[in-house]
Amino acid sequence: SENIYILGIESSCDDTAAAVIHNGKILSNVVANQTIHEAYGGVVPELASRAHQQNIVPVVHEALKKANVIKDQLHAIAFTRGPGLMGSLLVGTSFAKSLALGLNIPLIDVNHMQGHILAHFIEEEGFNKPPFPFLAMTISGGHTQIVQVNDYFHMTVIGETIDDAVGEAFDKSGKILGLGYPAGPEIDKRAKLGNPKAFKFTKPKVEGLNFSFSGLKTAVLYFIQKEVKANPNFVEENLNDICASIQHTIIGILIDKLKRASKETGITHIAIGGGVSANSGIRQALKDGESKFGWTTYIPKFEFTTDNAAMIAITGYLKFLEGDFAQSNIAASARLKI
Ligand code: KG4
Ligand code: ZN
Repeated sequence: SENIYILGIESSCDDTAAAVIHNGKILSNVVANQTIHEAYGGVVPELASRAHQQNIVPVVHEALKKANVIKDQLHAIAFTRGPGLMGSLLVGTSFAKSLALGLNIPLIDVNHMQGHILAHFIEEEGFNKPPFPFLAMTISGGHTQIVQVNDYFHMTVIGETIDDAVGEAFDKSGKILGLGYPAGPEIDKRAKLGNPKAFKFTKPKVEGLNFSFSGLKTAVLYFIQKEVKANPNFVEENLNDICASIQHTIIGILIDKLKRASKETGITHIAIGGGVSANSGIRQALKDGESKFGWTTYIPKFEFTTDNAAMIAITGYLKFLEGDFAQSNIAASARLKI
């Protein structure tokens, strides 16, 4: 079996995505972003599932077309089983099941968080695959985890957030500053023009390798309220410095925990994924870790870091090789663990 084509489907949050993989190489990677949520300053689950329902057939159609693959060439359908929003997961799960049944090919269930990590194993020129064991930090609007990866399907969460995800720390801070949603990219842009030490926000004290970000947004809120009372134009006059200081605090929290995880496990190969790994400050801090702490770091191609179906397709392919298929009665699972 040298010519394996698999369709991957992702619908766990607000992106409807489909990708076709041929062996380990991605032939197409289509994402329909849902912009409807911008007006609400966050993802509205009911609207997300409705949009998936509208988008899924055209997105799959486009992925097959772009890959120049017809349905009958497919060997399996891989789909995101969880974790995520139940209403969103149900759309992808039901669609994947029906398609696999119609084509009479195997169905492969994929854990979204494993997908973020296994995206590092997509064949892509100029990108190295991390050797086992490695540490993977998945940072996005929905997740913040450090995972010890011993093999493709032998991974353990060794640290995770006890409240907000790191992307939420960016987005909620941005909301306080009056920035649009999601605010992460704009904070990143402004941080480059500001002084990261202009303002100080205390870092949360969380035991071990776990994270907490809800206190930071409160600290930002109180700080801004206090300053605005003294100077109504405080935010406008200091926006770049505020963004740089918030970003600096967040990066400090992430790097502290990574340093600790690396020390405790003795593992120096560090991979990151998730939308927040686009952050230029985090990328720089990781690169600095190579000379400072002897790390080797891995950052996937951008389109494979945000929510996408290529990561579901590669995970499906790796499971296919192991003959690990789903039963036809498999159900979506909103709180699925790694
Ligand atoms: O992976 P993703 O596209 O979707 C999920 O949340 O699963 O991640 C989106 C998150 C948002 O919170 C967004 O603000 C953040 O990633 N983000 C960034 C940057 N680009 C996206 N945060 C900081 N700096 C960035 N450059
Ligand atoms: Zn994700």
